[in-house]
Parts: sequence; C-alpha cells; structure tokens
Amino acid sequence: MQDKIDQYTAEINAFTPANADELEAFRIKYLGTKGLIKDLFEEFKTVGLEEKRVFGKVLNQFKQLTEAKYNDLKENFNSQLTTHNSQQDLTLPGDGFAVGSRHPLSLVRNEIIDIFKRLGFVVAEGPEIEDDWHNFSALNFPEEHPARDMQDTFFIKKNNGKDDIALRTHTSSVQVRMMENGKPPFRAIMPGRVYRNEAISARAHCFFHQVEGLYIDENVSFADLKQTLYHFVQELYGEGTKVRFRPSYFPFTEPSAEMDVSCTICKGAGCNMCKYSGWVEILGCGMVDPNVLENCGIDSKKYTGFAFGMGIERITNLKYVIRDLRLFSENDERFLKQFKTEII
Ligand code: PHE
Repeated sequence: MQDKIDQYTAEINAFTPANADELEAFRIKYLGTKGLIKDLFEEFKTVGLEEKRVFGKVLNQFKQLTEAKYNDLKENFNSQLTTHNSQQDLTLPGDGFAVGSRHPLSLVRNEIIDIFKRLGFVVAEGPEIEDDWHNFSALNFPEEHPARDMQDTFFIKKNNGKDDIALRTHTSSVQVRMMENGKPPFRAIMPGRVYRNEAISARAHCFFHQVEGLYIDENVSFADLKQTLYHFVQELYGEGTKVRFRPSYFPFTEPSAEMDVSCTICKGAGCNMCKYSGWVEILGCGMVDPNVLENCGIDSKKYTGFAFGMGIERITNLKYVIRDLRLFSENDERFLKQFKTEII
C-alpha cells in the first residue's frame, strides 16, 4: 500500500493539466467513485489491525492532499479562463462602445469662440433673467421702443407698475454688465441663450443662441470692425467668402450695419437658402453709441468701440444646411447623431 501511495503522490505532484478535460480526467482517476483512492480504501478494509493503525492516518492525509491539489488547480484554471480563454478567438474585434456626439449648436459655438479667442477676445457670461436697465435702458432703447413690447419680450415681473424683470432678449445685456464692472479696454464675446416671444415655426423659435462681441479702446474705428468680422468669416466659412455691409439701425450702435456673407451653399449662384439673392445675412453690428458708453460710466470722448451680435442657429444652418429651427431643440437622435463624434 505504501508503494502505491508513494507512486500516486509523485504522479499527483507532477501533474499539470493543459486544459479542463485533463483536469476532469485527473479527478475521475483519483477522486472519482471508481477512482484509485476509493480502491485504496477498499484495500484498507482487508489489511490487518496493525497496518490499519499505520495506514489510516497516511491514507487520509493522501486523500486530503489529492483533494487540495485538485481544488487548487481548478481555481487556478477558472481564474485563467476569465482573463484568458484559450477557446476564444483573440483576433475578433472588441465590443464597440457608444460615444455621444456634440450638439451642432455647441460645435459651432465652440468654433466661433475659438476664432475670436485667437484674436484676443475673452468669453463673458451673464444672467438669462435680466432687468430692464441691462437689457434695454442702458442700451439706449427709447421708452416706447417696440422691442420692449410684450410681443417680443417675455416679461416676468413688474416694478412700480412697470415691466422690469424679463428673460434677456439678447446678450448685449452682458456687454452692459461688463462695461459697468470694469475699465476699458474691453475685448470680449458673450455666448448665451436668449428669448423672444415668437410663434414656433421652421424659421422662428421662442429661444435661440447668440454670440455677441464688444471691443472698446482708444481709437477703435469702423475699419477695425470690418476687418475683424471679415477675418472671422474667412476662418468660419473658408477663404474667399465675400462679405457686404448694409446700413441698418440698432438703438445701441451708431452707425449700425448688417453683414451678409456670400451664400456658402450655392456660392452666390442662387438657392433657396439665400432666397436666390446669393447673400445671407448673418449678423448685426455697429459702433457703440456714445450714450451707451456714458450709461456704463465710460468716457465717450476718450473711448470708442464696436459691437456685433449673431445667432448661432443661423450660422449653423448655413454650415450644415439645416432648414428647420425646431430640429435643434427636439432631441431627435437621428438628427443629433449626424454630427461629428468626439471623445469627451
Ligand atoms: N443685440 C442685437 C440683436 O440681438 C445684435 C447686435 C449686437 C447688433 C451688437 C449690433 C451690435 O439683434
């Protein structure tokens, strides 16, 4: 018996299974119901009393050793299986994992911000709920100006019987806050959401997004305004995009203009994006009215400056040929998924 036990022990110690089948064969050979250990116990029943005393202990130790070896190998094998399954084809591609895409308005807003940052503009932000002073009065809106009318503005609260608190209708309010709280020179852009009380359709919405800009310093001229915006358009829509300025009116700028770009879709040949004119208006601009500077505590004899404001939706429509404003806020994945995917 001792010889057998010694032989089996040597075999067991030397055993290393190459796969799960070999390990199972090992279990059956030694520990199975018809296995070698079972045979040894059968044999044990037949030996004399003296031998029983010696072998009882030896046999039990041998059984425990075999079980321990089997359990160790099995555990080892299972952990290897989970990290490295020899049955698995390692050349198969991994599971894809979905990365979100940026909203087209964010993409274009970031692009606009990048261009102006390179020109030395900083980003300024302000509240979406504004008072009359910052949204209108400081910006030289006369009392009876139609933009203050209920039709355009979502008023929220009255003060002394007068409409006072409203959802901002443009981010020019941030320009006022900046000028009030700082000292010139100023060179900043103001991205943000604005609200206007309009019926929702393909061409109008009750909220949209703007980037406005402000540049105040000594000796700033209309030529600076034109050159800055010309450069912006070349960067945004590509070299060779034409611009034209048309005289316009805003209470807070004098002189004022609207800027058109040559239609980026048809390159000026005429399409329904540019209503067959070859030109699309993208922003309003002008030299900051001296009244606005004085309202914000800036010496209008010493400082001049320009301001501009554009709707991000309009710029995006022109870039991606989107014809319905409602798509931007409906959160339809089929629409959103079409825009460049970035790893965030
Ligand atoms: N605030 C104007 C708007 O919302 C845009 C603008 C800004 C025009 C600055 C001129 C100068 O329409």
